[in-house]
Formats: sequence, C-alpha cells, structure tokens
Amino acid sequence: MTLLAIESSCDDTGAAVFRDGQLLSNVVAGQAVHAQYGGVVPELASRAHQQHLLPVVTAALRQAGVDKKELSAVAVTQGPGLLGSLLVGHLFAKGLALALGVPLLTVNHMRAHVLAHFIRDPKPDFPFLCLTVSGGHTQLVRVLGALDMDILGQTIDDAAGEAFDKTAKLLGLPYPGGPRLDKLAQTGNPLRFSFPEGALEGFNFSFSGLKTAVLYFLKKQTATNPAFIEENLADLCASIQHTIVQTLLKQLKRAVQATGLRQVALAGGVAANSGLRRGLQELAKTEEWEVFIPDFEFCTDNAAMVGQSALFQYAAGDFASQLASPDPRLKL
Ligand code: KG4
Ligand code: ZN
Repeated sequence: MTLLAIESSCDDTGAAVFRDGQLLSNVVAGQAVHAQYGGVVPELASRAHQQHLLPVVTAALRQAGVDKKELSAVAVTQGPGLLGSLLVGHLFAKGLALALGVPLLTVNHMRAHVLAHFIRDPKPDFPFLCLTVSGGHTQLVRVLGALDMDILGQTIDDAAGEAFDKTAKLLGLPYPGGPRLDKLAQTGNPLRFSFPEGALEGFNFSFSGLKTAVLYFLKKQTATNPAFIEENLADLCASIQHTIVQTLLKQLKRAVQATGLRQVALAGGVAANSGLRRGLQELAKTEEWEVFIPDFEFCTDNAAMVGQSALFQYAAGDFASQLASPDPRLKL
C-alpha cells in the first residue's frame, strides 16, 4: 500500500509518502512572504501553495523512490484552515486520485496533529491526553482511539502560539516571534514581571488578556523610560513565557486529575518551546506521567501526520468521494 499525503491548510506546503505503513519521505516548503506583513496573508498563502505544491509532491515522490503510478491512495487535509489554502491541496489531490483511479482520503488537520505520535516510536497507547499547541490552535484532547477523540478544553480567543507571536511583536521581535522569544527567555528571570494567567474554569484557555496586559504594561513603562524594553528584554521574554507555560501546564494537570489518564502527549509548533518542554518533563517526574513529544518535523505543520491519519482511516475504510470539499471550520 503506497500513500501520498498532502498538507496545505495554512502557510506550509507539505507532501509525504508512506509504503506499507512506513514513512519514506516528508517534504515541507514554508512561505517567507508573510514575514514582512507580521502574519499570514491568506491570498498570498494560496498563491504560494499553487507555486510550491507540484515541486513539493515531485520531491516527496523522488525522495521515496516512488513513481506516481505506484500510488494506491491519495490523502489530503480537509480542514480546519484557510479556505484558499485548503482548496489548492484539495483540488490537486482530487485530480490526482481521479487520474490514477485510486481512492481519496480527506483528513482532519487537528486529528492529524494528535496522530503524529504514531509516525515513529515511542508511541502512546490509547487512551491518552494530547495538548495541541500551535499558531492557530490550542486544544486539550482526550484520545480514546485513532478515530475516536474529543476536546476537553480549548482556547476561547488567541492560540498559545499566537500569544507568543503577538507579545513578541509588542517587544519589537520579528514574525514569527515565538522561537525568538523562547531563545531570549533562556537568560531572563521568569519571576521578574507578573502577567495574568489564561487558565479558565474547567479546561479552557484564554490568552487575549495576556496580550492586552503586556501592551498596557509596556506603554506605562516606556512612557517614563523609552529604553525599558531594551534594558529588560530577557526578563520580559522569560516572564511572558513563564505565564503561557504555567497556564498550559495548569490545565493539563487538571485534565489528568479529572480523567485519570497519565500518558500525556504534546503536539503543534509550540511543542518546540524549551520552557514548555522543561516544565512538562519536571511535572511528569513529580506526577509520574509518561510524556510523548514527537520530533520537531512532525510537530509543526507537515504531510507525514496527514498520511499517518489517513492510514488509520484507510484501515477503517473511511474514504472520501470526489464530491468532498474543504471545510475551513472542520471540528475535531
Ligand atoms: O504548528 P505550527 O508550525 O503552525 C500552525 O499550525 O500554527 O506552529 C507555529 C507556531 C507559531 O506561533 C510559532 O511562533 C510557534 O509555533 N513556535 C514557538 C516556538 N517554535 C514555534 N513558540 C514558542 N517557542 C518556540 N520555541
Ligand atoms: Zn497545524
């Protein structure tokens, strides 16, 4: 069984090839065009997908040593994501499946982030908890099976990655600011400044208050000292990161207590954050949890996770028709 998977939900164009359940190639092309605008511009994203998709698919097939005529199925992200971006991958996948006469599988991007844990060992056993934290999403998911998961909690406003990126922007860091803020935080004092946490009652999150608090705090400080940010950059980064990480870990701890599940998995681009990784490992030690964090290439948007999801769907006979269309607001 040879599978080609395609991902184009936001600003990364990805293609991956699996043969008999093994990942053979995973190619991703990012889009530098958005940096100058400080965020993803949907129209530019879909145009860039149109330019990148064929070369990315060709590279994935070449790296896997697979000819397109050998493909047994084609999988593609159905949503959630940007409609224009999703359409590019979707139409390509449909056309290819039709031309080759092979089945089409449509994949939920948020489920794919969770199932990225099954690409390589070590893999969690069902059931487990997964915290998916990216630039677009923050979801705490109870994973009962590959095709059976539900949301325990999620953000009611900004995503965790957005909280990193937007506060980093207030500090004058270029987009996407999350990784830079993480780096600067490493030499700062996380307890120097205190900002409001975003853990709501139950398991939900809210990060927009943090962004506003940082904005007004910086306005007040720079009014009397224009060099305030520059002089305190590392401490500001460390304190913001500490606030976001503590919020995420607080809800995770509550979810473990409520469900009794002690296998805890991390997914999404923010899983790269060094403070979150450290905090989670420390908590896991004291609370006796087993922690799973996939390789970074499977945490950020990629087609391997889409392919892994599709393999589970293929085994269950969950195929899509040529009438399928992308769904920007697809629920988990
Ligand atoms: O999963 P991803 O690649 O794309 C989305 O689906 O959004 O996640 C990207 C997000 C961005 O917000 C980026 O700033 C954040 O992940 N990110 C980080 C770090 N590395 C990536 N945030 C904090 N610390 C990091 N080291
Ligand atoms: Zn994603």
